Amino acid sequence: MFAAEGLEMEFPKSFTWGAASSAYQIEGAAAADGKGPSVWDAFCTKPGAIFEKHHGNVACDHYHHMAQDVAMMSALGLRAYRFSISWPRVLPLGVGAINEKGLSFYDRLVDELLDNDIEPWVTLFHWDFPQELYLKGGWLNRASVEWFGEYATAVASRLGDRVKNWITINEPQIFLGLGHHTGTHAPGLKLAMRDVLLAGHHVLMAHGKAVQAIRAATPTPVRIGWAPCGKVDAPSTNGIADVEAAFRSTMSVTQKDCWNNTWWADPVCLGMYPEDGVTLFGTDVPKVKGGDMELMKQPLDFYGLNIYSCGRVKAGKNGQPETVPNPPGTAQTSFRWPITPECLYWGSKFVNERYRLPIVITENGMSNLDWVMSDGKVHDPQRIDYTRRHLIELSRAITDGVDVRGYFHWSIMDNFEWAEGYRERFGLVHVDYATLERTPKDSAYWYGDVIRTNGKSLLSHGGTNGSVDASHRPFAVEELA
Ligand code: GCO
Repeated sequence: MFAAEGLEMEFPKSFTWGAASSAYQIEGAAAADGKGPSVWDAFCTKPGAIFEKHHGNVACDHYHHMAQDVAMMSALGLRAYRFSISWPRVLPLGVGAINEKGLSFYDRLVDELLDNDIEPWVTLFHWDFPQELYLKGGWLNRASVEWFGEYATAVASRLGDRVKNWITINEPQIFLGLGHHTGTHAPGLKLAMRDVLLAGHHVLMAHGKAVQAIRAATPTPVRIGWAPCGKVDAPSTNGIADVEAAFRSTMSVTQKDCWNNTWWADPVCLGMYPEDGVTLFGTDVPKVKGGDMELMKQPLDFYGLNIYSCGRVKAGKNGQPETVPNPPGTAQTSFRWPITPECLYWGSKFVNERYRLPIVITENGMSNLDWVMSDGKVHDPQRIDYTRRHLIELSRAITDGVDVRGYFHWSIMDNFEWAEGYRERFGLVHVDYATLERTPKDSAYWYGDVIRTNGKSLLSHGGTNGSVDASHRPFAVEELA
C-alpha cells in the first residue's frame, strides 16, 4: 500500500531539478564534422550485437536539433540538463589535435542552455571511448589515465568558464562489466576478471586525473562528482537487524563480477580497495603502484547515483543478509525491472552514511511501452506514477536529514538504449525515429509542474488516473516543433 497523505513535501530551495541524456544515445551525426569513431560505433556493426541491428548513427539527431531540443527543455521548465561529451567528437584520435567543430558543438550547447536558464551538468565519459585508443589497448593500457586527463583538460579549458557542474565517469560497473567481461556492450570483450579489474584500476585513476584536470582548468567554484551505478539492497522491514543487513549487503563485494558499490567507490572516496573484495578477488587484484590510490581519491563535491530499482534483504542467521524475492506479480517496467520506489530512500541514505558526500540522483526513470495515441498525445501514467513514488521516497530521505542536492530524470527523450537499440523508451519526450518528431509525453508536463512547485505538486495524484488534461498544460510545446 502506498500513500503520500500526511507527508510534507519538502525539497530544499536550491534543489536541482533536471533530466539527463548521453552523447551516443541521442546525438547521431556519427561521422559529421570530423568526429572520430568510438567503440560504440564499431560495436554496433558487429552481427548480433544490437537488437535488430540498430545503431546510433542518427539516433535522435540531437546534433542537428540542438537549439530546438533546448527550447523544448526550457518550455517544459527544466532547470538543469545533464549531458555527456563525445570524447572522439572532440579528439577524433582520442589524444592530439582537437576537432574544433566538435568542441564548438558543446560550446554552443552550453550557451544555449545558459540563455534558457538551464544549468549545464557535463559528464565527460558516458561509454563512447575513442576507437583509436581502444586499438592501443583501451582501458587496459595504463596510458589511458593520461589520455583521459588530456581529454578532460581540453574540455574543461573550453567550457569551464561557464560549466559549474562536472561528472567524470558514468557507471564503471556497466562499461567494465558488460563491455569488458560479459561482452554484451562495447567494446564486446570477454576478459577474465583479472584483466577487468586492471582496466578498472586505470578507470579509477583516470577519474582522479580528470578531477585534477578540471580543477586546474576552471575558475572556482566548480562542483565535481561522478555517477556510478547505485546497487541498492533495501531492508524487507524497518527493523534494525534488517536495516543493518541491508546496509551490509549494499556495501559489500560478494561476487566475482563488477556489480557492487564498494570496489569502485571505496578507492574514489576512501582511498583504498575494500577488504572483502581484496580477499574475494585474491590474486586477480591489480598491483597497486605508489601514488595510484592517492590519485583515485580526489576531493569530491557530490556523489552522483544512478538508481532505477533495488533488491530486498532481511537479516538471516547471525544477521547475515538474506535475499527476499519479490512477490509474484510485482509491478515492473517494460524492461522487466521491478518497481521498488524505496531504492531512492535507502540508496541515498546508505551511500551518504558511508561516504559522507552530498547526493545527487544523476539518473532515475523507467522504460515504458509508449506511442503517440490517436489524439496525438503520449499518455504515460505509468511513468508519472513511477516518478512520483520515487520522488516521494527521495523526499523522505531529505526529511531524515540526508543531504540530497538534485534529481535528474532519465531521460529527457527516448533514445538508443545500448544493446536494446530503440526498443526501450525512457524519455519524457517521445521521439519518432523515422521523422525525428518530438512529442512531449504527459509525464513531461507533469514533471514540469513538479519542478515549478519544487515538489509540492507530488502531493496530488495529477496524471496517474490515465490522463493529464489540456488545462494541465501551461504551454503548447508542440508548437515549438
Ligand atoms: C545506464 C546508463 C544510461 C541508460 C539508462 C537506462 O545506466 O545504463 O547510464 O545510459 O540508458 O540507465 O538503462
